[in-house]
Amino acid sequence: MTMTPGTAPLRILGIESSCDETGVALVELPEGVAGAAAPRLLAHALHSQIDMHQAYGGVVPELASRDHIRRVVPLLRETLAGAGLGLEAVDVVAHTRGPGLAGALLVGTGAACALAMALDRPVLGVHHLEGHLLSPFLSADPPEFPFVALLVSGGHTQLMRVDGVGRYALLGETIDDAAGEAFDKSAKMLGLGYPGGPALARLAEQGHPQAYRLPRPLLRGDLLDFSFAGLKTAVWTQLAKIDAGEDTVGDGHAQERADLAASTQAAIVEVLVAKSLLALKQTGLKRLVVAGGVGANRQLRADLDAQCRRRGVRVHYPELHLCTDNGAMIALAAAMRLQSGQAEARRQYDFDVRPRWDLASV
Ligand code: KG4
Ligand code: ZN
Repeated sequence: MTMTPGTAPLRILGIESSCDETGVALVELPEGVAGAAAPRLLAHALHSQIDMHQAYGGVVPELASRDHIRRVVPLLRETLAGAGLGLEAVDVVAHTRGPGLAGALLVGTGAACALAMALDRPVLGVHHLEGHLLSPFLSADPPEFPFVALLVSGGHTQLMRVDGVGRYALLGETIDDAAGEAFDKSAKMLGLGYPGGPALARLAEQGHPQAYRLPRPLLRGDLLDFSFAGLKTAVWTQLAKIDAGEDTVGDGHAQERADLAASTQAAIVEVLVAKSLLALKQTGLKRLVVAGGVGANRQLRADLDAQCRRRGVRVHYPELHLCTDNGAMIALAAAMRLQSGQAEARRQYDFDVRPRWDLASV
């Protein structure tokens, strides 16, 4: 251990740059790594590249990397100002090491290592999904181990059994598209732009979720894997039928499109809820943590809450603003890893990134 273990407060700076959000945050372990006090968020700052990528209908990796370069220092300044602290207050620098876009990851990782070297502080690379997974620990109602975690982001859909920090067992995952990808691709077909999840959810509010019967692959049986690739074909086919139909009202089939959005959301949510309940049943656990961007979906939250309440299961979510990518979850994951003795931060400044990285191997 290159840091002094003790009970003095320890401040961890977190830098996230794996995809299309640059996030910087400062988290404090009030009693240091040796104390039991839970980490708390001192300040965080975020820049979303959504506006920039919107024109292209999706994330352009090269543009993402360049924008991270522009944002990381101003966001660092904003975070420190928010915490009322100077650079010297940073004890450890944490960064997202993967998974994600290689060039984007390199920006945050390079900045973190350069900063740590200049400050003579240790660094720690964090798994992006571990950040999502642990993010509810920053909420007013934090979970307790063990729990089942439903990780639903733009790139991943996984069910994990979580017995403690660093003790993650994969129960099931998508065999093709991620849930967020299903939202994004369906939204794109409906001409809703990027990112599609929130846009499709908004349109779904005006539609009827039972209007179109869309497939729910792998729903039956006791497998905990997911498959969403067939859904986009079904959405495409249905959309073609709608567009080919006569537009009697002259509204560009607005109601049918809203119905299709609602039916798509219903299909994705039904599968996510059913598999989560199955994972809880198979593990016998009574606690569920939902994390990742799709965890912001209101319908998913409402259905999970209702079904879990009936079964005496507690559901935990991150604060809504910490559902999508952010630096706070990276600083938090580093803090929890250090506190649990699962990781060491080192004064080692040569670096690599892991665009593909299995959480169960962390
Ligand atoms: O976790 P995240 O911010 O980034 C990744 O690590 O992928 O997740 C982004 C994903 C996108 O697919 C986005 O469309 C989806 O989360 N998302 C939503 C909602 N908000 C974000 N999907 C459905 N409903 C939402 N309200
Ligand atoms: Zn994410």
